[in-house]
Amino acid sequence: MYRTKTCGELRIGNLGQKVTLAGWVQRSRKLGGMTFIDLRDRYGITQLVVEADADPELVATATSLGREFVIQVVGEVLERQSKNPKMPTGDIEIKVESINILNKSVTPPFTIEDDTDGGEDIRAKYRYLDLRRAPLRKALELRHRIAHEVRNYLDSQNFMEIETPYLIKSTPEGARDFVVPSRMNPGQFYALPQSPQTFKQLLMVAGYDRYFQIVRCFRDEDLRADRQPEFTQIDCEMSFVEQEDVLETFEGMMRTLFKNVLDVDVPNPLPRMSWYDAMDSYGSDKPDIRFDMRLHEVTSLAQGHGFGVFDSVPYVGAIAVPGAAGWSRKETDALTDWVKRPQVGAKGLVYIKLNEDGSVKSSVDKFYSTEDLKAIADAAGASVGDLVLILCGEKRKTQTQLGVLRVELGNRLGLRDPKVFAPLWIVDFPLLEWDDETQRFYAMHHPFTAPKPEHLDLFYSDRKEDLEKVCANAYDFVLNGNELGGGSIRIHDAQMQKRMFEVLGIGEEEADYKFGFIINAFKFGAPPHGGLAFGFDRVCALFGGQDSIRDYIAFPKNNQGRDVMIDSPSEIDDIQLEELQIKLDTKAE
Ligand code: AMO
Repeated sequence: MYRTKTCGELRIGNLGQKVTLAGWVQRSRKLGGMTFIDLRDRYGITQLVVEADADPELVATATSLGREFVIQVVGEVLERQSKNPKMPTGDIEIKVESINILNKSVTPPFTIEDDTDGGEDIRAKYRYLDLRRAPLRKALELRHRIAHEVRNYLDSQNFMEIETPYLIKSTPEGARDFVVPSRMNPGQFYALPQSPQTFKQLLMVAGYDRYFQIVRCFRDEDLRADRQPEFTQIDCEMSFVEQEDVLETFEGMMRTLFKNVLDVDVPNPLPRMSWYDAMDSYGSDKPDIRFDMRLHEVTSLAQGHGFGVFDSVPYVGAIAVPGAAGWSRKETDALTDWVKRPQVGAKGLVYIKLNEDGSVKSSVDKFYSTEDLKAIADAAGASVGDLVLILCGEKRKTQTQLGVLRVELGNRLGLRDPKVFAPLWIVDFPLLEWDDETQRFYAMHHPFTAPKPEHLDLFYSDRKEDLEKVCANAYDFVLNGNELGGGSIRIHDAQMQKRMFEVLGIGEEEADYKFGFIINAFKFGAPPHGGLAFGFDRVCALFGGQDSIRDYIAFPKNNQGRDVMIDSPSEIDDIQLEELQIKLDTKAE
């Protein structure tokens, strides 16, 4: 046996026991002839002591240990002179009797401790060393725990875990596909799935009425803190259900996760908000409802006072920033610059300050009387001491900009405590989204999402205004301003699916080529069905109190989509290309 105990388990109750431990030398230091070593394994850190009067050979070995050497030690558990209450093993130490060096290590490129001196790039290159650090280990432990809870819950609800293929047909929707050339079928390509969407629907046709899978998905899209090119979904589908059944089942799953993993009680039932209300009040389809600062439309109050900027737009909206009336000119100027950045895209920012002394100050004093300004501030829900910020323009675009500003201010004012959890469902999404550039509709969720039964007339209408009004039985699970999951009740009728493709401008031939298999399957008795998928990495990150999913993935990609540890993507050799009958464009090379 290499070890009798781990480095995380010895306590005061183990005093006097003789133990064998194995692990990595996190660090060692000499103090008045004694050598102290922090020995680390997956379970924790235990302090080892080699006494000054120990066998000189033992002292020499202890002195020779470098960082990250792998050692095995035998010793006795003693009570520590100076205890460390921050460490679970901080009451004890091991009086070392023998050390066996199992393997040496070259000096690691950064210190492998909770706080490290390593920059992001170097840690990514040596990810296996970074993973030795406790914060990353805890992140992966959390991930494991959540996966375990998910499987337990879904199993208890009769869901079956079924795998679906990774080499599929390219049917790009939303994001770009990653494609894989086929050697046996020269000139032809597989695509990696953006999600198992069509397969899970086919499983419903096959009669597996409760399916789930913790599954990798691949999307070639621009990366952000909460996006990876390969990420994991908790993917689920159910037959013979309506929206209510799906929401109830997965609310149950999330409630179980909150309780069993974080010991957090969330409201029962969870709040629900329509997409329209979310946009109007929060300027986002993933509202952070941990804080208020809602959007208010002030168009009618703002117009007709000779201020051309407001008079020439369809929408003027405002938010009230609590207690910010005292912000200096410099601060409001900086905020104006901030909203003008391309990431926000506003043209300018108007403010009204409701000063503590009762006076009112605004950047548009010229056009409005104090009473007018007060009326606008009032409509924005402001009280004395607040700062009202106003944007204007096209309605949804301006609301989105206000929504981004709201979240930024929430951050600056410390209103977004990662330990507070405010989940909710967003429901009643529009089915379709018009794109001015390409002059066509896109499916807001995906082309298999069913229109609400009460909107079928609108769905079969040829008028753009009618189609824009069609709502879907689609829903998102939102937590603290993040979209954690989404799904819908699906179309299960071949005729309706055809109509959907028609509305999306996908011709019969194209639909047949891309989706013939599913249109065909629906002819053989497809049951009513619906489902959803959670972004598993996002669930883990938010449960861990982080925005970035990267630390919750053992081997993630960087912002350029590269794995710098294995140096991928990389070129392949000519023989491989030849076998695939692929010639590279010399310019691209
Ligand atoms: P959707 O595209 O909304 O739905 O994806 C579901 C959830 O997956 C997560 N997610 C991501 N996480 C990390 N990196 C990414 N690049 C990424 N993209 C998405 C999000 C999102 O809410 N087939 C449908 C689900 C359904 O209708 O059942 C689907 O894939 O948390």
